[in-house]
Amino acid sequence: MRYSCPQTVQPRPSTHESPGNGDLMRAQAWQWEGLLHISQNRVAVLLLAGGQGTRLGVTYPKGMYDVGLPSHKTLFQLQAERILKLQQLAEKCHGNRCTIPWYIMTSGRTMRSTEEFFAKHRYFGLQKENVVFFQQGMLPAMSFDGKILLEEKSKVSMAPDGNGGLYRALAAWDIVGDMERRGVGCVHVYCVDNILVRVADPRFIGFCVQQGADCCAKVVEKTNPTEPVGVVCRVDGVYQVVEYSEISLATAQRRSPDGRLLFNAGNIANHFFTVPFLRDIVNVHEPQLQHHVAQKKIPYVDSQGQLIEPDKPNGIKMEKFVFDIFQFAKKFVVYEVLREDEFSPLKNADSQNGKDNPTTARHALMSLHHCWVLNAGGHFIDENGCRLPAIPRLKDASDNPIQCEVSPLSSYAGEGLESLVANREFHAPLIIDEHGAHELVKNGL
Ligand code: UD1
Repeated sequence: MRYSCPQTVQPRPSTHESPGNGDLMRAQAWQWEGLLHISQNRVAVLLLAGGQGTRLGVTYPKGMYDVGLPSHKTLFQLQAERILKLQQLAEKCHGNRCTIPWYIMTSGRTMRSTEEFFAKHRYFGLQKENVVFFQQGMLPAMSFDGKILLEEKSKVSMAPDGNGGLYRALAAWDIVGDMERRGVGCVHVYCVDNILVRVADPRFIGFCVQQGADCCAKVVEKTNPTEPVGVVCRVDGVYQVVEYSEISLATAQRRSPDGRLLFNAGNIANHFFTVPFLRDIVNVHEPQLQHHVAQKKIPYVDSQGQLIEPDKPNGIKMEKFVFDIFQFAKKFVVYEVLREDEFSPLKNADSQNGKDNPTTARHALMSLHHCWVLNAGGHFIDENGCRLPAIPRLKDASDNPIQCEVSPLSSYAGEGLESLVANREFHAPLIIDEHGAHELVKNGL
């Protein structure tokens, strides 16, 4: 399906809130509410990790990727540590020891290696029984003329059924039942590849709860018409995401009178669902979800049994999309955040493309953490002891930021750093972790 902007499209949803618009009191109230829910064991997180990472070009699950941070933490480890920290913050704020169960959806392609990786790393400090793996379904891949493609001589080429395969998998593995038995009331669902993801973000949770929403999407402002993000909008009165692969360029380029893109609610694949809403989807609506057809490069064996690796799309995969359930929400709301705080996805290899790659992900995280240190009263100095300006002049063409990494175990979103950095001067690279602030060069690390 391609969208070319029918008359009934409303680009910006009506309930659209942004914590970045300066109302600190309101943001703090959402945060308090979110932490309250977390402290009462009513919040779970659900990671979509069944994708194949084809664009990144790795043979292992994307969450195992190390983008080259000073700590060399993988995406899985960063997310696990954010969960650990949030459990502590909720306990500190509301006085209850609590658990945020972590549901991880894998596919036939990623299940074993993901489970082994977690076991090898002892669940990154989480309790094993609170990390629940389950597996989505697979569908055969087909050529453009509808023939089944073979991966090996007598093996059909199968691909995961899209991240909307989540809902069948929730039923098949009784995951909603598990949430209900644990007393979970709402879930933060997110993609594996965003290095800045605020897992179970308490402000987001608090906002959704205060709105009485059963379904919510976090967005950033889309500023480039060709950026590969879906856009949240209302089509014929129904909320949905129009995916980047299904919107026409002319529609994507439309601008409102203030010069901003008309379709600018960029989906960052962070969704809030209540558990009763998910129960309803699983029991009633899942069969109504349509498959989307994606043209892909699919390796196959030809009639001589030779493996062919196509360099352009040669077939189709059928996928359901996670956001296609928005249409069934009783109250849908949108929550807009700042890109530099919350969104830097890892999609491509460094060699392929200047965007959304390991370098941009690493830089986004270190730039954010540099800001956290400055906001907490710390300073960076150069080799001569002179203070570096808050917005550093670029040192080289590769646009390297100041190397600064804050462990999620020390700070979830920039809070609590004052006692470690205020009125202190640091040389980069700087690591802040549960043992304090360390300059890597000085310590010879
Ligand atoms: C996705 C969103 C897009 C959003 C963008 C932001 C969907 C359908 N599209 O696009 O609207 O703007 O992220 O970065 O959500 N996955 C599975 N099973 C699958 C396929 C994918 O679990 O069968 C998981 C992946 O592991 C990943 C996530 O879904 O965590 C997103 O998949 P990906 O293919 O990278 O989505 P995009 O096309 O980038």
